[in-house]
Amino acid sequence: MRIDIISAVPELMHSPFNTSIVKRAIDKKLVDVHFHNLRDYTTNTYRQIDDYPFGGGAGMVLMIAPIDKCISELKAARNYDEIIYMTPDAPVLNQKTSNSLSLCENIIILCGHYKGVDQRVREHFITKEISIGDFVLSGGELAATVLCDSIIRLLPGVLGDETSALTDSFQDNLLAPPIYTRPSNYNGWEVPEVLTSGNFPKIEAWREDKALQRTKQIRPDLLNED
Ligand code: ADE
Repeated sequence: MRIDIISAVPELMHSPFNTSIVKRAIDKKLVDVHFHNLRDYTTNTYRQIDDYPFGGGAGMVLMIAPIDKCISELKAARNYDEIIYMTPDAPVLNQKTSNSLSLCENIIILCGHYKGVDQRVREHFITKEISIGDFVLSGGELAATVLCDSIIRLLPGVLGDETSALTDSFQDNLLAPPIYTRPSNYNGWEVPEVLTSGNFPKIEAWREDKALQRTKQIRPDLLNED
């Protein structure tokens, strides 16, 4: 899979892509991530990428021309399954969306910054808009990083134990059950006996029950989703 990320401040994202599971996936060539700095696509002398909003109001708006140039160059080189814009005024990311994006060959992710982008970018280039929650970040970069992490860990070969992504919270619309490791008794706090019983059907039934209990308690809304 190839991911192209367009941003006014790509350096904000470098560390998360240079660490841990995502870095390993890149090193193993399971995913190819390219950062594009919008300033490299300006044609004006001052490398200006934003301007005041028509009609007045606070904040600056990312201009259409550098974004058009960057997206057009990318699209001329290959086909993209989705061109995604990270913005708080969009449907909220969930596991289903990450699962389906993990099946794509090539995607572009555009990060908003300042007040956002010229609406014509959204109307003419973007095929999908994603928010990571009902709060406002300073830009889409951290949101894009979250989205990429959730996609990349699903790619075949990225996680050591192939089944481990399947048992994550939200797969099957359930939160994950509690997990424990050694020691089985810490200061008198005991691990549930069933987990050390060696009875795997019973352990599985216990986990399913706990997952359902936790979901009912914490996120009952998930149980009504398809
Ligand atoms: N940009 C700013 N806030 C955001 C959010 N909550 N989700 C996605 N992109 C954003």
